Amino acid sequence: MCHSFSRRSFVGGSLAAGLVGAARGEAVEESSPIARDIVPFHGEHQSGIIMPPLVPQQQGIFAAYEVTARNRSELTHLFRTLTERARFLTSGGPAHPDPYSSGSGLLGSTLVPDGLTVTVGVGSSLFDHRFGLADRKPVELVPMTAFAHDDLNPAECHGDLLLQLCANHDDALVNALIDIHTRTSALMRQRWRIDGFRSPQRPSGTPRDLLGFHDDVANHFLTDVKGRINKFIWVHPPSPEPAWTTGGTYQVIRIVRFHLDEWNRVPVVQQQKIIGRHKVTGIPLNGGTNENSPVVYDPQGEVMPFNCHIRLANPQTVDSRFSAPNPYVPDKVPPVHIWRRSYQYMRAPDINGRMDAGHAFCCFQRNLSTYIDMQQRLENETLVPFITPTGGGYFFALPGVTGAQDYYARALLT
Ligand code: HEM
Repeated sequence: MCHSFSRRSFVGGSLAAGLVGAARGEAVEESSPIARDIVPFHGEHQSGIIMPPLVPQQQGIFAAYEVTARNRSELTHLFRTLTERARFLTSGGPAHPDPYSSGSGLLGSTLVPDGLTVTVGVGSSLFDHRFGLADRKPVELVPMTAFAHDDLNPAECHGDLLLQLCANHDDALVNALIDIHTRTSALMRQRWRIDGFRSPQRPSGTPRDLLGFHDDVANHFLTDVKGRINKFIWVHPPSPEPAWTTGGTYQVIRIVRFHLDEWNRVPVVQQQKIIGRHKVTGIPLNGGTNENSPVVYDPQGEVMPFNCHIRLANPQTVDSRFSAPNPYVPDKVPPVHIWRRSYQYMRAPDINGRMDAGHAFCCFQRNLSTYIDMQQRLENETLVPFITPTGGGYFFALPGVTGAQDYYARALLT
């Protein structure tokens, strides 16, 4: 077990961030409210994915953009500007007005980082004819196509660029979005956006989603075993991917609407059979002492139904080399993992007055095909009548910005 990286080692984003800053030799003044909430910006990988806070911040925004830059040089200017703003917004400090903008003023005269992370991804359309990047496209990056039960709204799909902003409070998030918008509006235009939140621990353990279940529990299978994150999440050689992608990862966003009226009429025992875990405790249906107890699939599918969510998403148990017997998964599936980091959303009702609430599902993986295969298996799950995917897209989350001279996508653009 790799304790330094364990999800359970971290009690909260702020504390974890401060400790990491200290570990890297940065000047962290523990008593300062600014230092306490800094998530380090520079690194081999972008923050907002797996680096602390491992317990994701409570507020999140996913915003997809069309790039309106007219050529490679303007595109480079866009990425340099994004880098400069993200570096500033995530580290905080005096919010000096500058010739370009007097700032939103939302955070007062001193900008508190508030655990902010800015994570930038690129969509396959960025690699079309406009910027001469076609031969540098990540090999698996394609536009998202509809799965069997999707009802996609084209206005909320795809994008040249994706910004994922996460922070402890809404004002820091909104300030960051406005700041970035003010300085980049000549070079990119927002296409769609989904604002989300994550619950606090109710009453403990992994936060709950809008179905009332602890969600993202299984992430610890990745952090608990040394090397699993590298194996399943980060792109690195040897790989068929272009060299510039090293340190990045594929990011999937799916806006998934929940039919909560229907769901909340389903008896809890049945809901648990749909997910594969107990609702109150998160303990797997096969038993255990807590939500982190090992998942075991019974060969008859009586305890853990063959088509429950977790059995189809991940047909093999942690320690087995291949999938347990399952009529819905005829082929032997080797161990696969994705890193889930979703947010819940609740927005205005539709024109029929029906609630529009659900999941801004987000996951990261080294191979996009891992997600696609999983999603195809989930077309058979018993959760299907209670959810409808309506939007999202596939992106490649860029490698990290490694230092003061570096900027987002530098290796892609030079
Ligand atoms: C959008 C609606 C979804 C909801 C409400 C949902 C909810 C849940 C819940 C409650 C769990 C059990 C706790 C946990 O391990 O986190 C879970 C597990 C999991 N879900 Fe989802 N999920 C959704 C979509 C997806 C999608 C689209 C994928 C991937 C294609 C996915 C992949 C997984 C995986 C891999 C696990 C862990 C399985 C294991 O190893 O035990 N989920 N999900």
